[in-house]
Amino acid sequence: LSTSIMKKASEKNLVKYQILNLFDFTNKPHNKIDGYPFGGGDGMILKPEPVFRAIEKIKNKKNMKVIFPTPDGDLFTQEVAKNFSCEKNIVFICGHYKGIDQRVRDEIVTHEYSIGDFVLTGGELPSLIMCDSIVRLLPNVLGKMNSALTDSFYNLLLDGPHYTRPEIFRGIKVPDILLSGNHQKIRNWFLSKREDKTKIRRKDLWKKYLSKLEDGV
Ligand code: ADE
Repeated sequence: LSTSIMKKASEKNLVKYQILNLFDFTNKPHNKIDGYPFGGGDGMILKPEPVFRAIEKIKNKKNMKVIFPTPDGDLFTQEVAKNFSCEKNIVFICGHYKGIDQRVRDEIVTHEYSIGDFVLTGGELPSLIMCDSIVRLLPNVLGKMNSALTDSFYNLLLDGPHYTRPEIFRGIKVPDILLSGNHQKIRNWFLSKREDKTKIRRKDLWKKYLSKLEDGV
C-alpha cells in the first residue's frame, strides 16, 4: 500500500486505507488469536472474537462489503473488481492458519473470493491483489498513459504486444505496421493480435467473445 500507484492514490485522497491488527483485539492475558479445531484435525483456526471486535471498531459501516479471501470462494475476476470499484467501504479479512471460525463467515463476511486454483499461506497477499485491482479502477487513479481501457479482459480479449524505442533492438525490428502511420490498419492489427492470443490461451474467453460478436454487442 505504500508504493507506486496504490500509494499515490491515497496521497491524492482518492482512497483511504486503514489496517487493523487482530492481535489488538484478543482476550487478555493470553492474547491468543487462534485455537484448536473442534472435532479434531490438523491446523489451527482463527478465533471469532478478535475479528468480531475489529469489525465493531470500524466506524463507517454503512453498506460495508466484507471480503474473505479463500481458495474455496468464487473466482475473483476483472468484472468483480469493476463492481467493487463502485463501493464506498470494503473490508478484507485476512485469514491465516488452517481456516477461520465459520461464525465469522456466516455473520460478518458478505463475499468470499479466490484469486485462483492454488493455496497461499494467508489472506494478506490475495487481499492486496484484490485491493490493487479495485483501486486502479477508481476515477483519476490511473493516468491516460496506463489507461484501464486497454487492459487484458477489456472487451473479453487478452492484451496484445507492445513496443517502444528503439526501432531495432539487437537486430529485432518493431513490426512495420506500427511505423506506418495508418491508424485504422494499426487498430485492426492490434485487434487481430489480441484475438489470436485469446483464441490460443483462453478458450473460455474466446467463446464468450464470439457469442458477443454474434449478438452484435
Ligand atoms: N487464501 C489462500 N489461498 C487463497 C487463494 N487462492 N485465493 C484467495 N485466498 C486464499
